[in-house]
Order: sequence, then structure tokens, then C-alpha cells
Amino acid sequence: MRDRAGAGDGGLVTSAQTSVLAPAPLGPVTLRNPIVKAATFEGLAHRGLVTDALVDYHEAVASGGVGMTTLAYCAVSDDGRGAPGEIVVSDDAVPGLARLAEVVHRQGAAASIQLGHAGPVATGTGHKGLAPSRVFAPQAMRYTRAATDDDLNRVVQAFVDAARRSVDAGFDALELHFGHGYLISAFLSPKLNRRSDRWGGTVENRARLARQVASEVRAAVQNHVAVIAKFNMADGVPGGLWLDESLAIGQLLASDGTLDALELTGGSSFENPMYLFRGEAPIAEMAETFPRALRPAFKLTAKRFMREYPFEEAYFLPYARQFRDAVSMPMILLGGVNRLDTVERALGEGFALVAMGRALLREPDLVRRWQSGDAGDGRCVHCNKCMPTIYRGTHCVLVPADQRPGVRVRARVRSGRGGREAALTEGGPVDDQRPRWPGRR
Ligand SMILES: Cc1cc2nc3c(=O)[nH]c(=O)nc-3n(C[C@H](O)[C@H](O)[C@H](O)COP(=O)(O)O)c2cc1C
Ligand code: SF4
Repeated sequence: MRDRAGAGDGGLVTSAQTSVLAPAPLGPVTLRNPIVKAATFEGLAHRGLVTDALVDYHEAVASGGVGMTTLAYCAVSDDGRGAPGEIVVSDDAVPGLARLAEVVHRQGAAASIQLGHAGPVATGTGHKGLAPSRVFAPQAMRYTRAATDDDLNRVVQAFVDAARRSVDAGFDALELHFGHGYLISAFLSPKLNRRSDRWGGTVENRARLARQVASEVRAAVQNHVAVIAKFNMADGVPGGLWLDESLAIGQLLASDGTLDALELTGGSSFENPMYLFRGEAPIAEMAETFPRALRPAFKLTAKRFMREYPFEEAYFLPYARQFRDAVSMPMILLGGVNRLDTVERALGEGFALVAMGRALLREPDLVRRWQSGDAGDGRCVHCNKCMPTIYRGTHCVLVPADQRPGVRVRARVRSGRGGREAALTEGGPVDDQRPRWPGRR
């Protein structure tokens, strides 16, 4: 049993709430507190590898007081990338991953790595896009490819290999991506999965890939690390996965006993992205990331594709409660948590951990602030203007450049005919991770 994340962090303040100070178990790991920094793709990898800037970023998040930080989306294979430049968990990536995990541990936090295969979302990187069934991907103006048995065996093995490498690198937790329309989530969807073989049709068949990945990963890593899944409760599209079936799938996963927790999410990067973010749809800012000629077409498509949902504090809580009550496994609440009393309430009513994305992008030291006795709400305003920044170093637009966590700005250069400014980091310029829409690499 690995328990090196440690339960205390040097006796910080005691005047504040108890929940953000109390150690929290997650499978074989004990976190120093129950707050998890949710995966927010950092856009700081270079040629699929960890950079100094990425290490700095997670060091800053860890020193801000979270129990565990999550290295965002890492592909288990090259065709599993959702955007160019993302980390692929190859042998070459291990030394950088190890450095990142070590730095996080030095700050007293645990380190989690999100592992996934983007499936149909990979059309945005110029790949054909692996999916349960052939389906049109409007973002890429092309059809995806229906996965064969050989493809699926290869993907399962890639998850296992990536899991082993992540353990070797020293991560405390593996987060398997079973949400957001990525490959495994697409197999769970009655809309995207129209197969009639053993991978499609019934709930059991559609859940087969998720269960197989979870069980083979668990067999490979045993109890050396926590294994959790980021799991879609609802796709947010007509005909997609919804609670009637996702609860049953949660129960199947629980009965397998292969996972230590479910991190509850919803929506789809493939079909309905704003369902998972909630708040404003940053269409104009997203358009700026595309070549000028494509912007008008993007804006037209985006009005439908990026349908806006109003922000509400803890917007997934009503769905998540259904899971807490029906599925016997620890649950991680995620989605719109911005307030300390929400954290307290969620833990009080039985959620094991609380994950936060944007609130910690806005204020990486929010947990420390709460621990210090300042219980004021998080300062994220749910504008989602951080979304388009993922292509050149993710940041909250309200944080001045010289105060952004981990990005040691060395110089600002003028680049491109439009005079767009780009930040160079000490790790060197990060990849330009823009999707080559419509579907060219
Ligand atoms: C800029 C940005 C990047 C994100 N990248 C990822 C990602 O790489 N993987 C993932 O599963 N979710 C990603 N998300 C979704 C978050 O993990 C989280 O599910 C969502 O933001 C809702 O939680 P919040 O309200 O606490 O932000 C991202 C969110 C943002 C804002
Ligand atoms: S840009 Fe900043 S304030 Fe806006 S949603 Fe992102 S983190 Fe929150």
C-alpha cells in the first residue's frame, strides 16, 4: 500500500473549517485533504513530453494546498490524442512524468494522471477518429472509423502499458477517462454505439470496454495506486447516455471492484461541450484560435455546437446524489464547486472527495486561503475564457501574466501576421496545440 502523499502539511492554520484540513482516503492512498484539482488541460507539453513549465504549474497547484493535483489529459496512444502536442504515455515520457510527480510530492500533495483515448474526438488532430460506429464528426467534416476487435485489444493494452508507466513514474492515482465523448464514453452511449456485436446493444455490452479497461489496469497495478474513473452520468444530448443507464453501468463497475472511486461528470467534447463547463460560451475567443479564413464558419457551427448552459453552484449535484445513493463506491463530486460551504455539505452528505477545475485555475491557492480562515467564495466567474487558452498554455484570463502559476514568462514575442502575442516559458515554447480544423494535421 502506497501512502506517501502524507496526511499533514506542516501544521498550517487551524482556525478554518475542518473538512479542508482533514486527511481523506482514496483506495490505498491517503490524501492530506479531500480537495482534488480536476484535470484542466495545461497546454504546456512539448512534442508529447513534460516540460519545465508543466512541472512548475503542478508545483504551484500543489503548494496551493490541494490534496491531489491531476495531470490533465494524457493519451495512451498517439491516435488517442484529442489535440496535437498532448502527452502520450510512452517510455520516453516517463522521466518527465517522474519529475512532475516528485515535485508535487515535495509540496505534500498527491499526484494523479488522467489516462485516455480520445476516440471520435481525435478527429480534431487529423486522425480518422476511432469510434464504436462510423459517425460524422462535424468539427472535422469527416467520418470516424468503427473500431475493430483488434483496435479494441490494442487500446486496452495501451491503457495497461500507460498505467504501468505512470506507476513507475511515481503517480499516486490513475484517472481513467470514461467521459466527455472520448472512446470509452462513446462506447457507453446508445447514440454513438450502434453495434450489434458483443461491444454494442445492451448496457452490459456497451459497458464491456470500460469494465475491461478498469479490470486489466487494476490487475496490472494491483493496489500500488488508486484507480479512479472520470465517468459520464449524462452526455447531455438527445439519445445519449443518461441516468437510467449510467446508474446501471456504475453498479456494474462497482460490482467488479476494480475502481477506488468515480469522479462524476457529464457532457461531451464531441457533441455538447458546454454541458460540462456551464457558464458563458466563449465563441468569439474560440474563433480567434482558428485561422482567419475559418472563423466565420466556426462561429456559425459553434452557435449550435457550443450551446450555453447557465452556471449554478455544484450543477451536477442532483445527478451525483443519485449515484451516491445507488452505487456502492466512493464518489467524487465535480462541476461548479466554488464555495467552501458546498465542499462541507458534499462531504457531510457522503461524497468522498470534491474535485474543482476552474475555481483552482482562478486561484491555485484557494485551499490555503480557506484553511487560513478566509472562507470567501472562489473568484472564478465562469466566463470560460480559459477554454481557448488551452492551445498555448492554459490560464485564467483574470490572472495577470506574471502571476500565472508555473508559467515563468521569459519574453513576449510578436508572432504571426496578426501580431498575436505568445508567451515563451522556461521550458521553451510549447507546441501549438490548435486543432487543425477542419481535420488536417
Ligand atoms: C480549460 C479547461 C481545460 C479542461 N481540460 C480537461 C481535460 O483535459 N480533461 C478532462 O477530463 N476535463 C477537462 N476539463 C473539465 C474539468 O475537469 C471539469 O470537468 C469542468 O471544468 C467542470 O468542473 P469545474 O466547474 O470545477 O471547472 C477542462 C476544463 C477547463 C476549464
Ligand atoms: S477564465 Fe478564469 S474566471 Fe473565467 S472561467 Fe476560466 S478560471 Fe474562471
